[in-house]
Amino acid sequence: MNTPFQLRSAVPLAGLLLLAACSNNAATNSGNNAAGTNQAQDAAAKTSTFTAAKGCKNIAVMLPESDSSARYEAYDRPLLEQEIKRALPGATIQYANANNNADTQQNQADAALTKGACIMVVDPNDSDKASVIVQKAKASNVPVIAYDRLIQDPDIAYYVSFDNVRVGQLQGQYILDQFQKGNYELKPGAKLVMINGSQTDNNALQFREGAMNALQPAVSDKRLNLVFDQYTPNWDNGRAQSLMEGILTQQRNDVDVAYVANDGMANTVIAALRSQKLNGKVLVTGQDATLTGIQNILIGDQAMTIYKPIVKEAQVTAQLVAALSNGTDPGSVVNGKTALKGGGEVPSALVTPIAVDKTNVASTVIADGFLTKDQVCSGLPTGAGGVCN
Ligand code: BGC
Repeated sequence: MNTPFQLRSAVPLAGLLLLAACSNNAATNSGNNAAGTNQAQDAAAKTSTFTAAKGCKNIAVMLPESDSSARYEAYDRPLLEQEIKRALPGATIQYANANNNADTQQNQADAALTKGACIMVVDPNDSDKASVIVQKAKASNVPVIAYDRLIQDPDIAYYVSFDNVRVGQLQGQYILDQFQKGNYELKPGAKLVMINGSQTDNNALQFREGAMNALQPAVSDKRLNLVFDQYTPNWDNGRAQSLMEGILTQQRNDVDVAYVANDGMANTVIAALRSQKLNGKVLVTGQDATLTGIQNILIGDQAMTIYKPIVKEAQVTAQLVAALSNGTDPGSVVNGKTALKGGGEVPSALVTPIAVDKTNVASTVIADGFLTKDQVCSGLPTGAGGVCN
């Protein structure tokens, strides 16, 4: 059987490198308009700084966890392994998953260096703490590519991700559009709750920032009544459910919109809503276009998700790994710079996220082979979401 990532990656690489349009958000991504020559110079500097990378075939791939989203083991791991081996023939991969523990991740990084890793791809469990990993790698002249989540360290070689402020903006704008259309019986004063991701994940901060860019005006003039706004440590899905249960009790079931940062937490928030027969009545957002998320959309319990074509993220990462190893300029793969909170910027490759609801599941997630129609329709009633027949 073809797995979704195999189907997707059959599409030629060149056609996939549709990188993010320039972000105008100065707080997060800046310098996207910088001249290509500067980026080429930066790239050349990288390859001469990280001398251990030259000719390197021993690549460490380190992911943060597997509990909060289905993406890591289902997509990121196999895609990174496949794409790195394709871009850099002869490459071997040392894979490690930190299981939601920053100390574990640090130990895994030490172990990888001891075993000769000479280029590291690290999706940090904690965006600040992972700086130690970058510094230890640097001491061995080994470059670290921050993958998906930013590492707050000026010495990372590259940052590869989606435009994460844009992710939040798409989620927030979706809520606003539904409000303006009067869908979900939304009226002025509608109660909004925000269940955000983990505060130690820089992405979670950017998702909330983007969402607030869209929602703040409506919150300020009381069209939306923001009654709850919290981060969820470790993106813990069970914790999101208890938060929602508590909110429903406190608000006497009077909640209209649940901004939920990803599909894993959205699914448990929906479980809390189901037990009060409020599923489908409350607008719930998500992210990751997981199988469960898409099925929740098709049965009407979740309004939307964000589809992030992880295959592109993995391919861009693989290109950067190959460029570092070959000592070549990665060229237009690097399409911007990302500001660090302590000052400075890192060269970045940001891919464009896509908002998905039942109207475009077929033309995005299914058309791309990210999920197959058989997968999403399995167990759903005929006609679900206008997609399953
Ligand atoms: C990722 C999301 C994921 C979340 C929880 C974020 O850093 O970008 O795709 O849902 O972590 O794992």
